[in-house]
Amino acid sequence: TRILVLNGPNLGRLGSREPEVYGSGNLADLEALLVESVPPGIEIDLRQTNDEGELIDWLHEAVDSATPVVLNPAAFTHYSYGLRDAAALVTKAGLPLIEVHISNPHTREEFRHDSVISGVATGVIAGFGFDSYRLGVDQILRARS
Ligand code: DQA
Repeated sequence: TRILVLNGPNLGRLGSREPEVYGSGNLADLEALLVESVPPGIEIDLRQTNDEGELIDWLHEAVDSATPVVLNPAAFTHYSYGLRDAAALVTKAGLPLIEVHISNPHTREEFRHDSVISGVATGVIAGFGFDSYRLGVDQILRARS
């Protein structure tokens, strides 16, 4: 079983980007944490892009390959209706899509309080650093039929 762990814009800069908000770990550290946390036979397919279209294509790929998704949409969270529609394709196909955030956007600037993704996500986890992803992956494994 494979789990897609998709990351939106600027998350390739984790480690050096606002470490007081996002911590000092980079994407490779995140991948290692997730790979360590899953049982044998579960594949973590972690990707990052700054490109909205590429992220949308990856969600289409999730639908076509029936692959569950953990998604940190980053800033697209707050305004991308294109990404929202693609996320809806995933959950409408009966696949889990867990929206995750490293920080808790509700404690931050006003524009971060709204998510256009949450309304079509299976669930949302925010504010637990890299553990937000781990909790998302754990939930996908728990709920697996
Ligand atoms: C984020 C929160 C977003 O508001 C922000 O644009 C990000 C990261 C988070 O993981 O906390 O890039 O999604």
